[in-house]
Amino acid sequence: MSKEIKTIGVLTSGGDAPGMNATIRAVVRAALNKGLRVMGIRRGYEGLINGDIFEMGPKNVSDIIHRGGTILYSARCPEFKKLEVQKRGAEMCKVFGIEGLVVIGGDGSFQGAQKLANLGINTIGIPGTIDLDIACTDYTIGFDTAVNVAVDALNKLRDTSSSHERCSVVEVMGRDSGHIAVWCGLASGADVVLIPEKKDDYSKEKVIRRIIDNRHQGKSHNIVIVAEGVGGSQDLAKEIENVTGIETRATILGHIQRGGTPTALEIKHASAMGVKAVELLIDGKSNRVVAYKNNEYVDFDINEGLAMDKSVDMSLYEINKVVSRY
Ligand code: ADP
Ligand code: F6P
Repeated sequence: MSKEIKTIGVLTSGGDAPGMNATIRAVVRAALNKGLRVMGIRRGYEGLINGDIFEMGPKNVSDIIHRGGTILYSARCPEFKKLEVQKRGAEMCKVFGIEGLVVIGGDGSFQGAQKLANLGINTIGIPGTIDLDIACTDYTIGFDTAVNVAVDALNKLRDTSSSHERCSVVEVMGRDSGHIAVWCGLASGADVVLIPEKKDDYSKEKVIRRIIDNRHQGKSHNIVIVAEGVGGSQDLAKEIENVTGIETRATILGHIQRGGTPTALEIKHASAMGVKAVELLIDGKSNRVVAYKNNEYVDFDINEGLAMDKSVDMSLYEINKVVSRY
């Protein structure tokens, strides 16, 4: 029989993502409404080991639903990989009476949560990363907003590249995965999408051939999306310009993809996942990650979740190839 939890903590860790605030709001409000105390931990595991912890009331999460970023701040804390530092984290939870902890972050952050679970703190992970690179879930908080921000930027780039009949090479984030690139490609009608999962498709020759073919078909501008995990967008732009004679500009969208007002879809997932995490803690669960799978909110053992195979939706990639062909 698991002991009843009275106080929970919540932290955000790793790269921030739009919708993290809406997730914090959901966790805090759900917990308070169930009669739990909630402690906010600033700056992820760094704040945990330093005791940067404060009690949260309903007002702490007022007026944040629409704000990007995270009011709890986020940090990377490499030293948390050491057992003695993890023990300090677990000790600090005890000092502040934290019996259950919600960790909003990516798979690195979940490994930290797993270590705390081994040390007796009930932990639940909520997937929060723009990259959508957590295998056990079909959705990660931040993804939809990041894609929409990037697509908005791509549409602006298309305006200017079509006026000047140029080629635009645009690099989007995603660390080692091509999810953002694939969705951006489809939603912006990009001519070429280069992702790390499809290495064969990004020989310079193939890309250049496609651009030349497009020109012969009467298409005066092109958009090439390069996933961060492929990189080299500046060099590719130079190469395209040198070989084709078509003026080409490279744009790296960078951190603007991590900001902005979360979309309605984002807030829906954030709210549902936040509530689910609190329910799991109340049920005495630990070492679990909340996931959205086949249109349902479910949970997995963190170890199982982290061990699953990650892959991008290749059908979307192939659809874009068909619909973008001029
Ligand atoms: P993300 O959570 O977005 O994948 P990181 O991989 O940078 O981001 O991880 C965020 C933080 O999680 C790290 O800075 C560290 O504090 C913690 N972390 C990552 N890997 C581990 C690990 N193996 N053991 C314990 N903590 C970890
Ligand atoms: O994981 C989110 C992400 O934005 C990745 O897409 C990118 O590779 C990385 O974080 C950038 O990290 P930083 O904010 O440390 O530059």
